[in-house]
Amino acid sequence: MGRNLRGKVALITGASAGIGRATAAALARAGSRVVLGARRHDRLERVAEEIRATGGEALPVVTDVAEASQVEALIGRAVAAYGRLDLLVANAGIGYFAPVEETPLEVVERLWRVNVLGTLYAIRAALPVMRRQGEGHIIVVSSIAGKRGGPGSGVYAATKFAQVGLCEALRVELAGSGIAVSVICPVGTSTEFFEAAAALGGVRVEPMGPVQTPERVAAAIVRCARRPRPEVLVFPPARLLVILNAIAPRLVDAILFRFRRRLLGNRFPGPRC
Ligand SMILES: NC(=O)c1ccc[n+]([C@@H]2O[C@H](COP(=O)([O-])OP(=O)(O)OC[C@H]3O[C@@H](n4cnc5c(N)ncnc54)[C@H](OP(=O)(O)O)[C@@H]3O)[C@@H](O)[C@H]2O)c1
Repeated sequence: MGRNLRGKVALITGASAGIGRATAAALARAGSRVVLGARRHDRLERVAEEIRATGGEALPVVTDVAEASQVEALIGRAVAAYGRLDLLVANAGIGYFAPVEETPLEVVERLWRVNVLGTLYAIRAALPVMRRQGEGHIIVVSSIAGKRGGPGSGVYAATKFAQVGLCEALRVELAGSGIAVSVICPVGTSTEFFEAAAALGGVRVEPMGPVQTPERVAAAIVRCARRPRPEVLVFPPARLLVILNAIAPRLVDAILFRFRRRLLGNRFPGPRC
């Protein structure tokens, strides 16, 4: 049966759309009280209203995760409202698709601020609360790009690898504390992610390979909240890619070379790697 999520306090960053929104709705359906963080006030209010309309409890808090003070205020609002924090889902994230050498430095910095520092700020603000409670669960939404970099997503992959490394270290640091740490690695998911990435510039891409719904990812997150696991690959066959990459990275390079053509066209004419 696993942990009962009824009455638990769950905070989800990036809850105004996509995976975060679906996760907030799924956790609310499981009986958790949800605190919703993101920048767009109107979207957050709509998500909160949808949850309340189905009998759930939701607290929207406008937050830019790239600002440490705003993330601290978000966690503070959750604790002020509900007295505790059982689950943090650090999900807010942005992408950008272009060759590494063509990615502007301001975009590199933005991706790191949102994806890595935003995650770190949330974890650092949540930990003292969870330590006081002697229990808690931190779930970070990384990506399959955090297990293997691909053409056109080098900077994004670097931020997603950083999240995986952070979670691995934290799991060991927090062993025996009652605080669990999990990292979720979805494959392509049908959300506004690719549109938001294109709005930053770079190459307009569609998700490649298998595509899942945000509800499918949310269901995996809820399962993980019930039974904490170190790492969840939402599309299980992706484990083959991870194993193959560990033992034969050049073979995976060759497979991904085909995607380079599809994604980046002839930007890099040259011999097959
Ligand atoms: N979609 C995919 O194919 C895919 C695959 C693997 C992993 N992921 C990961 O899944 C996570 C969620 O992505 P998604 O697919 O659900 O994308 P999405 O539909 O674009 O949603 C992204 C969410 O992050 C929020 N966000 C962006 N910048 C923010 C900031 N500075 N401060 C606070 N919130 C911010 C957005 O809200 P506001 O704009 O309102 O702030 C939105 O709620 C990301 O970490 C992404 O890397 C996505």
